[in-house]
Amino acid sequence: MKEIKVGLIGFGTVGKGLAEVLYSQRERLVKRSGMTIHLAGVADNSATELPEKFDDVTLTKDARELINNPEIDIIVELIGGMEPAKTFVLEAIAAGKHVVTANKALLSQHGAEIFAAAAKKNVEVGFEASVGGGIPVIKALKEGLVANKILSIMGIMNGTANYILSRMTDEGIHFEEVLKDAQRLGFAEADPTYDIEGIDTAHKLAILMTMAYGMPITHNEIATEGIASIEPMDIELARELGCRIKLLAISRNHGDHVEARVHPTMVPQSHLLASIHGAYNAIHFQGDTVGNVLLYGQGAGMMPTGSAVAADVVDIARNIESNSINRVPSLSYLPTEMRPRKITPMDELYGPYYFRLTVLDQPGVLSKVAGILSKYEISIESVIQKGRKKVGAVPLVIVTHHAKESAVRGALEEISKLESITAPVVKIRILEEED
Ligand code: HSE
Repeated sequence: MKEIKVGLIGFGTVGKGLAEVLYSQRERLVKRSGMTIHLAGVADNSATELPEKFDDVTLTKDARELINNPEIDIIVELIGGMEPAKTFVLEAIAAGKHVVTANKALLSQHGAEIFAAAAKKNVEVGFEASVGGGIPVIKALKEGLVANKILSIMGIMNGTANYILSRMTDEGIHFEEVLKDAQRLGFAEADPTYDIEGIDTAHKLAILMTMAYGMPITHNEIATEGIASIEPMDIELARELGCRIKLLAISRNHGDHVEARVHPTMVPQSHLLASIHGAYNAIHFQGDTVGNVLLYGQGAGMMPTGSAVAADVVDIARNIESNSINRVPSLSYLPTEMRPRKITPMDELYGPYYFRLTVLDQPGVLSKVAGILSKYEISIESVIQKGRKKVGAVPLVIVTHHAKESAVRGALEEISKLESITAPVVKIRILEEED
């Protein structure tokens, strides 16, 4: 029976997951691929030994031992980050190896260089695990949705942020408290910056947009806001307004230009994405032929992510066996068909907004605020004032009708300068029911 040899760089959570999946599913994979997928070697800086059941796997500290081993067919990069991951991936491609990676930061920044190098050497780059952990979202775009113009992408793509917002919603506790708890439980990274600032979500949206629209885009081009400024009060007010606050990735295809943004969003409770709880991810596509598709599952974790990496390995193994490397283009569109597209400037977006102002409870404050909003042609839908204080500030919440982002920016700049405003204004965009 044909054997495909895999070299794994990085034996952290996902690396261990891949080893476990290849081990526990080996008979199933033989039945499904007609091949033995053999984890031949692991390279890791800190691992000193492998579990006993991997007695046929060699362990080294030197990734190049795997990259330069002519016996190895596929290199799996699971160390994450930019360097040395980028160097290892490019060296593996140069050595004629197929590559599988879960590294969304690397692909969303240097994807063009990596895919061009792979095309030149006629090797494959699999990256299913880079978006949505165990959810087969990349394969859905490349294959299941191939006969669609993708009209929009919307999703919850970061489990840590969704876990934090879910617990804030359920328990009414502060962001910092949940974050500490999440780190203690191992949900959040020791440095959770990318997760809570929306950068990890932007990495993933960049990858999905590249594939959905056939356009090169890096995460730097995506307007990104995180969740650190959300207070329990905003969560409670969202509930009163019939919404939940979620960190959403949003992209709409307007033909000659495309929206690309990541920010906390008030999602109506009736919307499917409002019900995505805890560390789960969900990605919604709208296709012109299929209509709405929602993919839901575990966006992180050892076994779910290991499952996605193993799926890429099997895909490549099948293509090696059937001599059909790159039968399906890695980025869904043929490299010659990729076209740059204009990103819609945030200032040109329209939608309803939630503003939370912290104001001195004095006569005339609301009229000044309303006057500025009216000057910028922003129409108020409702106003909520919480509490009453003779001395000190109170929250004043304003929900608007459809407004233009540039007008909102201008109005909030002016409102922030009022003497009666005592803290930065919190602005959250509201998702409309029909979205
Ligand atoms: N840090 C990511 C998350 C998992 O919290 O969803 C890997 O993409």
